[in-house]
Amino acid sequence: MTKRLNATPENRGSSAQFEHALVLETARVTEGAALAASKFMGMGDKNAVDGAGTEAMRSLLNSLDIRGTVVIGEGEMDEAPMLYIGEQVGSGQYEVDIAVDPVEGTSVTAKGLPNGLAVIALSERGGLMAAPDCYMEKLVVPPPAAGKVNMDWPVEANISVIAQSLERDVEDLMVTILDRDRHAELIRRVRATGARVKLIGDGDVIAGLAVGVRGTGVHAMMGSGGAPEGVILAAACKCLGAEIQGRFIAEDDAQRERFTRMGVDEHRIYKTDELASGQQIVFSATGITYGELLNGVRHFAGGARTHTLVMGYASRVVRFIDTVHLEDDKARVTIRV
Ligand code: FBP
Repeated sequence: MTKRLNATPENRGSSAQFEHALVLETARVTEGAALAASKFMGMGDKNAVDGAGTEAMRSLLNSLDIRGTVVIGEGEMDEAPMLYIGEQVGSGQYEVDIAVDPVEGTSVTAKGLPNGLAVIALSERGGLMAAPDCYMEKLVVPPPAAGKVNMDWPVEANISVIAQSLERDVEDLMVTILDRDRHAELIRRVRATGARVKLIGDGDVIAGLAVGVRGTGVHAMMGSGGAPEGVILAAACKCLGAEIQGRFIAEDDAQRERFTRMGVDEHRIYKTDELASGQQIVFSATGITYGELLNGVRHFAGGARTHTLVMGYASRVVRFIDTVHLEDDKARVTIRV
């Protein structure tokens, strides 16, 4: 019988059951996608990277004990051969919504540069916002600053609040921003406060995730990136107690019309709990290329090693998983610590 799990704070007990059943299995999904995509890492072909990651992720999702609907995927049905929005995966017992990015940072992965990632978020039905494929203005802050910032304030004010919340000087803050021309003014203003800026080429999911984890050396992420990535990041922020604020950006009337159809308000700031409203959330990310939070896939004679961060919101677990995958046909392999 299909289990339908509804999002209420009271059912955190049963939420935890859902997560216990799926946390490690979900890690297996991103591990598989990362392993497949990593075969094309550094080969200069981003379609091959994406195709391999997507195919592996889809086949592993079909093996889970879920009845899942993709709410954020590789695109609409007519533009994506698999893991398209609305695609059904699995025929098991748990009814879930799924947000996927089988390869987040396809270009960096194809170039062998840092921060390529296989990432997924699962929730009970309706627990992840079905975001349109557009840009989103984002502000991500660590747990101590959650609930204290406001994207409508001048950036200088938010920086000051983040510094106070972390009990450090503004000069000791590092703010991650995608290195894009559209961010020139934002970068100038952040630097003018005395805070330092870490410019990244791609991959704002892992960059935002790093903000939620102490010891990564980054304290905020600002600027615009993909809206689907914003929802996936919200699932992670929710598990970590960090905060994301996001505002959808309509670039033309066609997008504005799409927003209206989807019930998206372009003037509103959406917070973590609105982007990822679920009470049962599983988030998993496996590094494909090296990053500040996760190692990339390391191949060796006889196998490969992956590094994964998997979390459950209701069950309050954050696991870093270091997995050695052995190939069947090799008799002996020496494992290093
Ligand atoms: P892909 O996974 O499609 O390669 O996206 C990488 C990425 O850098 C995201 O992390 C980010 O949200 C988005 O692209 C930014 O878009 P743009 O490159 O158009 O500024």
